[in-house]
Order: sequence, then structure tokens, then C-alpha cells
Amino acid sequence: MASHRLLVPPPEALRRPLSIPDRLLLTPGPSNLAPRVLEAGGLQAIGHMTKEMYQVMDDIKQGIQYVFQTHNPITLAVSGSGNCALEVALFNLLEPGDSFLVGTNGMWGQQALEIGERIGARVHPMIKEPGGHYTLQEVEEGLARHKPVLLFLTHSESSTGVMQPLDGYGQLCHRHQCLFLVDSVASLGGVPIYMDQQGIDVLYSGSQKVLNCPPGTSLISFSNKAKQKVDARRTKPFSVFMDLKCLANFWGCDDKPRAYHHTTSVIGLYSLRESLALMVEQGLESSWQRHREASAYLHGRLQELGLQLFVRDPVLRIGLLGCNATRKNVDLVIEALKEALRHCPRNKL
Ligand SMILES: Cc1ncc(COP(=O)(O)O)c(C=O)c1O
Repeated sequence: MASHRLLVPPPEALRRPLSIPDRLLLTPGPSNLAPRVLEAGGLQAIGHMTKEMYQVMDDIKQGIQYVFQTHNPITLAVSGSGNCALEVALFNLLEPGDSFLVGTNGMWGQQALEIGERIGARVHPMIKEPGGHYTLQEVEEGLARHKPVLLFLTHSESSTGVMQPLDGYGQLCHRHQCLFLVDSVASLGGVPIYMDQQGIDVLYSGSQKVLNCPPGTSLISFSNKAKQKVDARRTKPFSVFMDLKCLANFWGCDDKPRAYHHTTSVIGLYSLRESLALMVEQGLESSWQRHREASAYLHGRLQELGLQLFVRDPVLRIGLLGCNATRKNVDLVIEALKEALRHCPRNKL
């Protein structure tokens, strides 16, 4: 090379200071960071394979066991958002040709279906109109007909607001030699979930919803039955990055020395540790209650406006997220909605 002249000049945009607006986030995610979580994000990085970092990871594991209500040793955080945790589940549990039954009542079942097809599984969608949920009888029919190795259901389908009941579904799956996989990305910490008691074999969630943590990490846990399925694979999982055995080793979930797998998001893990610590401090039960109250208040105020709720059954609905689940924020949402409706030409209120 004759000269060292740059072919791409430094971008002007990066000479300007970073500018982020201060916003109250009342969407289905991400949510605002809790102050303690925000502070954790400002701490200095340390090596991802140091004893201090292993301690942070061990704390996170225990925090996940608490919020999932599980004793599973294979419990860890994934370096990636909720969809990444879904891929960890499916890449490890499914092999080409496996029968896979998918509750498709909104966006997240579609995602599971797509991944299952790419793996080469025989995917059987249980298609339902958005707003619906699955009864035990419907699931039993699907299990008897398709003899799947895995059933996927979304606990809170954030694209419609439906909350899927979970009691009895795990036990039903096990009677049909099927594993039970649940997406709790939008529900964890906001609605009760008992992984072990409900017979859930793989449960995953995201960091950026009720946990008020930055997006980019996710939580996952595998039951012993799920581990046995992974151990009995005839083929290696397609993804090395998502290979459960490597991840479990790196997270200290087996009895071997931890080996390098990838460089984790050290700062993201500090934040996750702190958000789980906040959940431990406030207690899951009080978090569930706060969300129940905010949700009931929101539904009441929407109905006062003359609006009809999309989900008909009153117990099957979800509400606002984490530290933002307050009456004051519900009032703000209602005022903003009224204002928006005033500008809506087809407003019938
Ligand atoms: C119920 C549910 N599942 C999965 C996801 C996907 O999570 P992520 O966007 O963190 O990948 C979301 C995101 O909003 C969700 O609400």
C-alpha cells in the first residue's frame, strides 16, 4: 500500500455529543431503568473470567431461581435479548424431524414457529385468533394428535394483552412425554409464575420489562427432564454460541472448571444483578400485587372512557411494567389517550 490515506473519513455525527431524551417509558418494553440499576451501569468493567465476575454470575443465577421459583441447577443469563433465549431453548431442545407444537395466538408463537421450521422440526401451529388463549382440552388434543417432543406457549402475549393460564399444562405435557417451554418475557415479576410447581421444563424471560434493566440480556432455566433431552441429542446444536452445554459450563452449572465460551456483557450483568436484587428486596408477591392493582386501575379507567377491552375474559390481561406500574402513570396514559382521541376524526366517545 503506497500511502496511509483513509478511504472513509471520520463521520461528522460522531463528533457531536451523545444526546438521549429523558423519557417516561410506558410501552410494553423496554421500561425505564430503576435508579439502582442505572448506577450499576456506570461502574467500571472488569474481566469476564475473574472471581469477582463469577460471583456476580452466581448471584444472578440465584436471583433467576428466585424469580422463576425453581431449583434447577441449569439456570443462567443469555448474552442477548428475549428472542435469543428462545433460540437457546429451541436450538438445544429440537433436532431436525422432531415434532414441535406451537401456541400461535400472536406474535411470539410465530417467532417460535419460524425458528422451529429453520431447525427442520415438524412444526404444528395451534392457530388461534389474536386475543385468545389455550385451554387444557385444546392442548391435550394437540398433544394426542401430533405427539410432539415440545410444546411452546407464551405466558403473556404482549401483542394482544392475553395472559395464558399455566396451571396443569406442564403435568399434561409430561403425561404425553412432551416437554413444556414457556415465554415469560412480558410477565415475569408482574404475574405469578412457579416454574417447578407448574411443571415448566424451560422458562425464559427478558431483562427490559418488569425487571427495569437494560435490554440485551435474558434469563433462562432448564429442568432435569429438559437437560436429559439435550444430553440425548443425536446431533450437535447448530449454534456454538447458543450451545447449552458450553453456556452451562461457563455459568458454573456443571462440576467442571469454567472454560471460556464468549465475552459476556459485563456491565449488562451488573445491571441484571441489581435488578434481581431489587426484586429480592421488594419481594415477588408485592411486585405481583402492584402490577395487579395498576392493571385493574388501568382497565377500570379505560372502561370509564367507554372503551371496550380487546381481551374479553377479565382475568386474562396484563398491565404496566416494573417501577412504572403506578396509578400516577395510569392517569398519565389515560390523559394522553384522551388527548389522542380528541384528534381522531372517527372518535365516537
Ligand atoms: C412476550 C414477548 N416475548 C418475546 C419478546 C422478544 O423479546 P426481545 O425483544 O427482548 O428479543 C417480547 C418483546 O417484546 C415479548 O413481549
